[in-house]
Amino acid sequence: MRVLVTGAAGFIGTHVSAVLREAGHEIVGLDLMHPAAHRAQAPVPPGVRHGDVRRAADVDAALEGVDAVCHQAAMVGNGVDAQDLPAYADHNDHGTAVLLAAMGRAGVGRLVLASSMVVYGDGRYTCAEHGDVPPAPRRVDDLDAGRFDPGCGVCGAPVTWRHVGEDAAFEPRTSYAASKVAQEHYASAWCTLEGGSAVALRYHNVYGPGMPADTPYSGVAAIFRSALERGQAPRVFEDGQQMRDFVHVRDVARANLAALERVGDLASGLHAYNVASGHPCTLGEMARILAAAGDGPDPVVTGDHRPYDVRHVVASPQRAYDELGFTAEVPPAEGLADLAHAPLRTR
Ligand code: UD1
Repeated sequence: MRVLVTGAAGFIGTHVSAVLREAGHEIVGLDLMHPAAHRAQAPVPPGVRHGDVRRAADVDAALEGVDAVCHQAAMVGNGVDAQDLPAYADHNDHGTAVLLAAMGRAGVGRLVLASSMVVYGDGRYTCAEHGDVPPAPRRVDDLDAGRFDPGCGVCGAPVTWRHVGEDAAFEPRTSYAASKVAQEHYASAWCTLEGGSAVALRYHNVYGPGMPADTPYSGVAAIFRSALERGQAPRVFEDGQQMRDFVHVRDVARANLAALERVGDLASGLHAYNVASGHPCTLGEMARILAAAGDGPDPVVTGDHRPYDVRHVVASPQRAYDELGFTAEVPPAEGLADLAHAPLRTR
């Protein structure tokens, strides 16, 4: 297959392109070399053309002879404050709309879209009395007092987290999350209008070699890894008991390969899949694994909290296994220990 990979010079796009090539596919790479991800004058990597998904002429040219599109280009991170909203809307929402319109003109009917588990907002919880419930909103008073676990949204009693399936409602909390929901909606509309088939891969916390070093937009694995490189302890917010699933970038790339090879056989419409390692762990555990492997100082649990953070979110990897045949291969304990010595991208 000839595949257009947008964001091909980025952290995930680089690994996706490599795995697709290894599987025998031909790649057309497109990347804007955005300054949030690449330093000024960074060379465009071999096999990637410099171009912008928001510019129809760039996308039309890149789509020539293409069988499928793998759309990784995006502004990432949570966004720092509301001033980031226009940039997320521009790159992620508008860029996706331009890309989809171009695919319509070029008659390309297969799309794999990088989405995120941030579309769910907080995870899903079970109350002993009320069953599956939404969590009560996190109140600043509770967080200040060190009460980090949410209560039942109905009665306030303690709840236990459970896996989030793909049918859970969208509850985006950040600029980035809102733009990922929008991308899925645009992809769904494109399927209806063009009879296309699309897969949205909702990545859990991605880590691995080549991930960007500490920036205001970095995820926690890069922040901890960068701190250790400076000889500083990872600073773990809240009480360190919040649950996440850290999935290796190579597994994320393999999920893209599986999706691209299956999307043509799926019914027209958007199909969403969580992409997770299947081995969730607490933030505190993750910090300890990284610090120990890097021979760095022990993590410090600070009790700090951020207004947009969710408490526990753990996506179920079951549907991706059942329908795409995808299962992650890298156990987080191994992959995170490797990350302690893996090169980071300094932009
Ligand atoms: C992260 C990504 C999000 C991505 C999602 C799924 C970022 C900023 N967030 O969301 O874009 O879509 O995974 O792949 O890239 N924390 C600390 N110390 C720190 C920073 C954070 O303890 O210095 C804690 C936070 O309070 C939070 C957890 O680490 O509890 C995860 O934070 P983070 O990686 O920023 O965001 P996610 O919500 O997991």
